[in-house]
Amino acid sequence: MPGGPRARSELSYNRGMRVLGIETSCDDTGAAVYDGGRGLLAHLLYSQIAIHEPYGGVVPELAARDHIRKLLPLVAAVLKEAQVDRDGIDGVAYTAGPGLVGALLVGAALGRSLAWSWRVPAVGVHHMEGHLLAPMLEPAPPAFPFVALLVSGGHTILVDVTGIGRYRILGESRDDAVGEAFDKTAQLLKLGYPGGPAIAAAAESGDPHRFHFPRPMTDRPGLEFSFSGLKTFTRNTVEAHSLDDQTVADIACAFQTAAVDTLVIKCRRALEQTGRGRLVVAGGVGANRLLRGQLRAMVKTQGAEVFYPRPELCTDNGAMIAYAGHCRLRTGEREPLPFRVRARWSLAELNPVEPVIVRG
Ligand code: KG4
Ligand code: ZN
Repeated sequence: MPGGPRARSELSYNRGMRVLGIETSCDDTGAAVYDGGRGLLAHLLYSQIAIHEPYGGVVPELAARDHIRKLLPLVAAVLKEAQVDRDGIDGVAYTAGPGLVGALLVGAALGRSLAWSWRVPAVGVHHMEGHLLAPMLEPAPPAFPFVALLVSGGHTILVDVTGIGRYRILGESRDDAVGEAFDKTAQLLKLGYPGGPAIAAAAESGDPHRFHFPRPMTDRPGLEFSFSGLKTFTRNTVEAHSLDDQTVADIACAFQTAAVDTLVIKCRRALEQTGRGRLVVAGGVGANRLLRGQLRAMVKTQGAEVFYPRPELCTDNGAMIAYAGHCRLRTGEREPLPFRVRARWSLAELNPVEPVIVRG
């Protein structure tokens, strides 16, 4: 009968605890298997871009429905790729928030049910903790403590991190997230969705001297962000010009430069204020090449180091959820059968746990 503990004598030998990770908080269906002894065994992603593109942004109900269609086959495929059958899974981790509630419920309901039927524990993972810990999956992971810049479609957060679950929020966006500003700017410029990669591509042929956009909230102290003013400035510029290809490229370039400069200025300030020597950058906007290059240059001047996940682990994925879930499951954290998801959830509410690092 399902529900009871399972004998797992093989655990103590040649492998670590194996966790299936599930991500469905927004418009990507992700699944992965993380092994505490061997690291990431497999991760697969199914992107819903084609579904949302005609609407210029994510339609929550369509996202949830597509997760329902895609998630179970994706889980089967990732187990196959990891060469693990269901008896080889020791725990299930799924994103429990923050995110779109209907989308979250799909991953949580399936994850919790699989764990119950496989008689293994389950844990609900904080999506932004997943992003924050993604660099731990890389060959040279950062040591604690560090400052983390989390930049995604829904969040812009600077956090002082002294361990897993030991988070002090240094600053957040008061309005739009930086990824959202990229997406809205791309909409104004008719560059399609998702906006970040489209803006970055258009900016390559832009003239960096034609427009100068504001760097919001950089002229006063503090680590808060605000991107709505930059968005309005962009809208006014778009409305004042006819949008030929060169103008689109020039505006994309001015917007990207202003957004990246703002993030870099705040990161430098956060390193100075905390005295930390390491900066971690994660979340979808962390895939931006200009941002990565500018931060690398900035940390050099501070005698600090910067750590990124590879670009495919910056954007949403199941691997980061499997890893974060592994860290929590191995210290005994459990989601009870009456699971819940949370559209809003602060990182500061999480419990501390010890990190797991696999080298090799
Ligand atoms: O972390 P993520 O995949 O999903 C959320 O948790 O929101 O982040 C998605 C965001 C979107 O706003 C997307 O436009 C942005 O990340 N993004 C980028 C790039 N790739 C994705 N922004 C700037 N440059 C990129 N290369
Ligand atoms: Zn995300």
